[in-house]
Amino acid sequence: MELLSKTLARVKPSPTIAVTQKAAELKAAGKDVIGLGAGEPDFDTPQNIKDAGIAAITAGKTKYTAVDGIPELKQAICAKFKRDNGLDYTPAQVSVGTGGKQILYNALMATMNPGEEVVIPAPYWVSYPDMVLLAGGTPVIAPATLENDFKLTPEALEEAITPNTKWFIFNSPSNPTGAGYSWDELKALTDVLMRHPHVWVMTDDMYEHLAYDDFKFCTPAQVEPALYDRTLTVNGVSKAYAMTGWRIGYAAGPEKLIGAMRKVQSQSTSNPCTVSQWAAVEALNGTQDYIAENNKMFTRRRNLVVDMLSEIDGIVCPKPEGAFYVYPSIAGLIGKTTPSGVTITDDEVFATALLEDTGVAVVFGAAFGLSPNFRISYATSDEALKEACTRLQQFCAALS
Ligand SMILES: Cc1ncc(COP(=O)(O)O)c(C=O)c1O
Repeated sequence: MELLSKTLARVKPSPTIAVTQKAAELKAAGKDVIGLGAGEPDFDTPQNIKDAGIAAITAGKTKYTAVDGIPELKQAICAKFKRDNGLDYTPAQVSVGTGGKQILYNALMATMNPGEEVVIPAPYWVSYPDMVLLAGGTPVIAPATLENDFKLTPEALEEAITPNTKWFIFNSPSNPTGAGYSWDELKALTDVLMRHPHVWVMTDDMYEHLAYDDFKFCTPAQVEPALYDRTLTVNGVSKAYAMTGWRIGYAAGPEKLIGAMRKVQSQSTSNPCTVSQWAAVEALNGTQDYIAENNKMFTRRRNLVVDMLSEIDGIVCPKPEGAFYVYPSIAGLIGKTTPSGVTITDDEVFATALLEDTGVAVVFGAAFGLSPNFRISYATSDEALKEACTRLQQFCAALS
């Protein structure tokens, strides 16, 4: 009998984690590496949040809690949804898990049956299709294009929906493109969903607060209140509050779904880390002032990267509305050859040659379902970004 499950054989390990690991190995071997692969802010968790975690430990709040979150955090989450999104949820409609990742996974595990489909716009966050596969469902990829600023059109959504569609996964601002949907763009998608009452909406709003210039974030249940009863609104503290390692994510939706997700969590991990839950209460209820400060820094870095990449012949780099990623196209470089004789046949070859020749680590576009592109995370210092973009310019200029 084969040891490993057939389900697992359909799943690939996370390519973003693989790139980060490869860059770390090269660094350990003494190579001058600039890692632009990691999807986390480069600054520390704010002090008031750390203090809340320390206070929780000191007060002995270190035991099991209710499976899907302490009442204080659920209250803070309800207040956040009202404050930021104009959405009314009760604590019974809220689930807290070990990161947004577990929340998304719980929701899929709680709902998917063989033969059922999940529509995922590409480029997508690497985990969506594999999570759907792990849950026994079938991912259906709905392509978005560079020409449309990586945003799904209503026509492409309509085309992807079948009688077997259970979920539509929506992510704005997006990982990996940074694309953020305006109210009107999202309304065009929710209009399609209104014509298909059997389709549920899983919106991943993880990058809500990382929005730049005059971009205004909006979420499906806010844009189309009639979708409220079939929407799971997912969010978390990882990105906005630099809390990636604390592992707290959450969602709100219909009680029946939240209860089913609780069942999955109760038989897998039980409650998310108690200390982290108390820190997350402070993140959501405490000052939000540093978000605007951080966004000034991210805006500057985004502009720096977009400007420097746009100077490169063969690269097209749209300026995204949010998150901390850019997703340039290298269509103009395909077929060219590096000085060491490597022909750039696709974006994976490009990323490997770039890392080996210049030490700049990026993630190739095929991992996110749209090629030929690559993803840069600009959640790193201005100096590192300048140096990395200079090396990219030199690498591309040397292609023939
Ligand atoms: C689009 C998106 N969703 C969800 C997550 C999961 O975040 P966490 O599990 O840290 O809450 C990430 C993290 O990279 C992400 O980029």
